[in-house]
Amino acid sequence: MAKVLLENIKRRFNNVTAIEDITFEIPDGEFWVLVGPSGCGKSTILRTIAGLESATSGKLFIGDRLMNDIPARQRDVAMVFQNYALYPHMTVAQNIAFGLQMRKIDQKTIQERVVTVARSLSLEHLLDRKPKQLSGGQQQRVALGRAIARQPQLFLLDEPLSNLDAQLRDDTRAELKQLHQELGITTIYVTHDQVEAMTLADKIVVLNRGRIQQIGEPQSIYARPANLMVATFLGNPPMNVLSAIYQGNGFDVSGQLLTIPPDVQGNLNLAPGQSFNLGIRPEHIYINEPPRRRQEEGGELTVEVKVVEPLGRETLIRASLPGSSVLLNVQVGGGVRLHPGDRMKLQLDLNQLFIFDSSTGETLYPLM
Ligand SMILES: Nc1ncnc2c1ncn2[C@@H]1O[C@H](COP(=O)(O)OP(=O)(O)OP(=O)(O)O)[C@@H](O)[C@H]1O
Ligand SMILES: [Mg+2]
Repeated sequence: MAKVLLENIKRRFNNVTAIEDITFEIPDGEFWVLVGPSGCGKSTILRTIAGLESATSGKLFIGDRLMNDIPARQRDVAMVFQNYALYPHMTVAQNIAFGLQMRKIDQKTIQERVVTVARSLSLEHLLDRKPKQLSGGQQQRVALGRAIARQPQLFLLDEPLSNLDAQLRDDTRAELKQLHQELGITTIYVTHDQVEAMTLADKIVVLNRGRIQQIGEPQSIYARPANLMVATFLGNPPMNVLSAIYQGNGFDVSGQLLTIPPDVQGNLNLAPGQSFNLGIRPEHIYINEPPRRRQEEGGELTVEVKVVEPLGRETLIRASLPGSSVLLNVQVGGGVRLHPGDRMKLQLDLNQLFIFDSSTGETLYPLM
């Protein structure tokens, strides 16, 4: 087990900058998730830590050891790739045991560890099969098992659940979290799935275009996103974003007025006529509810229902503002009956409103 430190790591491929000045330190034993859209540099960071890629500049430490010039096989790191590779001529048990055989651990210990790992990943009935006799999801779990059995000082996992179907992905995600709680091995996990990021991480690193956007605990990033990119990336359905013009007493949103709570007004220095992006999460929009606090008065928008998606426990509504093509996501109770074309009033909890700079995307309110 080890801490990991990246100091000003950069990686260029000819004229493409894959990662730009990345610095963070992962304390020993923590589970960190790198998240961001395709091409933002997640795999490149992981491959650099594994030693499969070398940084153009910057320093990488695992434990207290500078690793830049240490070959991959001497880093005591186990990596599971997006495109995992199993040894086709070996059984599941032999694949899981592979890294242990290489280290000349005694056979009894190897046997025990293979069985324990196989059980934790629901593979124990498949131990004698060859990889081509397995489904894609089973193969992927064998690749995970091989990494786990080694008990390295660092796990690097690159979208390890992406080939699994939805149910298996949820189960394996929970198994991974439990395994981490038991083994306590420092883990860096790459995904573009914000649910995996939120559920697994001690800390999330949100990346975009090779740059760190924000680092923090899942709930604090969710509650206090640093900018519009982070705000809309974490959360499902995503945060609603409305373009608005400041009017002095409130915001003009496609011809409708949202009155700003006095404490927001007091904290901001907005110029009338200026454009902003307003953000509100679906769970902070209500229908048919009287304003519960004074601040909520003036937080109403009239919309037209476009799409109704019943999900059982709740219903997801997509609604547009008259005269605008922007669709708002609204979560309402499962029993609510609405139809496309219905007009209704939405109550926005203005205490939960975000204001973003319309050119930089930086969060202006709430203050960080
Ligand atoms: N060997 C390479 N040569 C040239 N460009 C590369 C190379 N590897 C990666 N890149 C570029 O670097 C950027 C980051 O790639 P990377 O694979 O790290 O993204 P990612 O965040 O893992 O994306 P995904 O979610 O699609 O896996 C991309 O623009 C990619 O095209
Ligand atoms: Mg990748």
